[in-house]
Amino acid sequence: MCGIVGYIGKNQALPILLDGLKRLEYRGYDSSGVAVKTADGVFSVKAVGRIVELEKKINSPNPSLEGGQINLDSRLRGNDKGNLLKGVNAGANTGIAHTRWATHGAPTEANAHPQTDCQGKIWLAHNGIIENYQELKIRLIAKGHKFTSQTDTEVIAHLLEDLYDGDLSRALIKVLKILKGAYGLALFHSDEPNKLFAAKFGSPLVLGLADGEIIVASDVSAIIRYTKQVIYLKDGEIAEISGQDFKIFDADNKQVNKNIDQIEWDSEAAEKGGWPHFMLKEIFEQPKSIANSIRGRYVAEAGRAKLGGLESAAERIRGIKKIIIASCGTARLAGLVGKYMIEEYAGIPCEVDYAHEFRYRKAILDGETALIAVSQSGETADTLAAVREAKEKGCLTLGIVNVVGSSIARATEAGVYSHSGPEIAVASTKAFTSQVAILCLLTVMFGRQRQMSLATGQRIISELASLPDKIKQVLALNDELKRIAEKYYQFKNFAFLGRKYNHPVAFEGALKLKEISYIHAEGFAAGELKHGPIAMIDENFPSFYIAPVDSVYEKNYSNMQEIKARGGKIIAITTAGDEKIKEVADEVIYIPKTLEMLTPILTAVPSQLFAYHMAMLNGRDVDKPRNLAKSVTVE
Ligand code: G6P
Repeated sequence: MCGIVGYIGKNQALPILLDGLKRLEYRGYDSSGVAVKTADGVFSVKAVGRIVELEKKINSPNPSLEGGQINLDSRLRGNDKGNLLKGVNAGANTGIAHTRWATHGAPTEANAHPQTDCQGKIWLAHNGIIENYQELKIRLIAKGHKFTSQTDTEVIAHLLEDLYDGDLSRALIKVLKILKGAYGLALFHSDEPNKLFAAKFGSPLVLGLADGEIIVASDVSAIIRYTKQVIYLKDGEIAEISGQDFKIFDADNKQVNKNIDQIEWDSEAAEKGGWPHFMLKEIFEQPKSIANSIRGRYVAEAGRAKLGGLESAAERIRGIKKIIIASCGTARLAGLVGKYMIEEYAGIPCEVDYAHEFRYRKAILDGETALIAVSQSGETADTLAAVREAKEKGCLTLGIVNVVGSSIARATEAGVYSHSGPEIAVASTKAFTSQVAILCLLTVMFGRQRQMSLATGQRIISELASLPDKIKQVLALNDELKRIAEKYYQFKNFAFLGRKYNHPVAFEGALKLKEISYIHAEGFAAGELKHGPIAMIDENFPSFYIAPVDSVYEKNYSNMQEIKARGGKIIAITTAGDEKIKEVADEVIYIPKTLEMLTPILTAVPSQLFAYHMAMLNGRDVDKPRNLAKSVTVE
């Protein structure tokens, strides 16, 4: 939610900032802005809408500063067609940029970041929410400060101005003690040459260390093109950065030594690589992402899972009596599949919570309870808060997280990275199937420590290992799903139905459709249909029914009859070889046979492709649906 990029170094800042913003755009895309230090002052441009609007303004014939043609960094040529930027003098090597997802104040230029103080000397980009901004604003206005935006962020600039005595780092330390809430900050003062600052509390911030240049960003996707050496800031830390050098201080102003981490993702993995959309690319990556998620993590003959990231907590894991899975959005639905697996095969009671509700209900927790946080980004504020809450109450906290080094990965005591590779499209696809695969491995691990036989362990592992090939078979149905979408794309309402292991997939299918096509879709556990939702069914209200041949197939079949009897159309997903379903369903998509517990990994794929084509046919911006952001770092 909101993306920050900061740059200081030997190259022109502006092209690198814009490139970084484009890569972070999935974090928020209602407005954006840049501020670059130049010999003549600060060059700042803001625009409402996507980054492309900002670029247009920067390229417009009336730039706010005159100057020579900027030399594009050679790494950006080709992609950005040269001639991107005019109007900034050579030597503008320090700057900050921001892409916004509005919280306080509408998406307008005035509310876009960077925000500045009364004199236009302190410039900052902020991710997070300053909870005490109103009282601070009143105090600052009383002291004569003039505010130009409705944002909470602007108070930081004025507070800094108020406490500035010629050294921005001193003022920053004082200001951060006053702020309540969350922040990732990148900032500079126009009078302090060759200095950029960054500070973090609750919102993520990473430093990328390249040769003679340092990039600050909300996540590594803005950095990997330049360097794989990164430093993750911790809450309370402040970085003082020059082009080649940096110092990091903790909240008590003591200098700290930090580890330099190596990013494993390659930059191509975060690019579209010929695909029309990240979402389609990511759907088609699933054979590979699942293979990566499970590689080296099982011993087939022993029917066991081998999860190195959990070894440090091995003793406590053995003693777990209850599991709570806390997460949001798609990750929660993966958790719901996990609940069915864990209870059936490991015999451990398992609850699944919306992370944002977990904190408020009085859950019965103790040292024998494990909270598993499932999160693609590892930055979802609600999920992070649930981890902290559970830790405080003495629970063991574990993570299933995709982004290495992210806040949730660091806050949990032990965990398993899902290794699905960077997921850029806002709608989550490959992260979901990898999360389910990891939950399956966890189930095998918990189960084999308890009640699961060798034969069952072996069967699950061998089926899991065969999934990449089976997903390929499902992906081959892409054209068929497009054909179905062409028949249905004008319908305004859809029900998504499934039972047991596939009831979470029904919810996930509905979520995918609504978030990217804006078509109303509701997921139901199919048994619930007769308790209300069936009232909506008629020839204009189709059902997407997930009914593989499994232990609840007959019940699903009866529900399909009930829908058909009321004139409802049915698009059904079932298992290869089932001919009976054709008697009730208007369209049938076949997945290969697998274990019932693993069917969600296969049935999710056609639901993703269906949503993709429905959104395309409705002319939607598939990768960046309206009002959404990929990484939700506010509560
Ligand atoms: C946002 C995204 C969803 C995602 C959810 C949880 O709402 O749009 O796709 O499922 O956050 O994110 P996480 O990173 O914790 O998995």
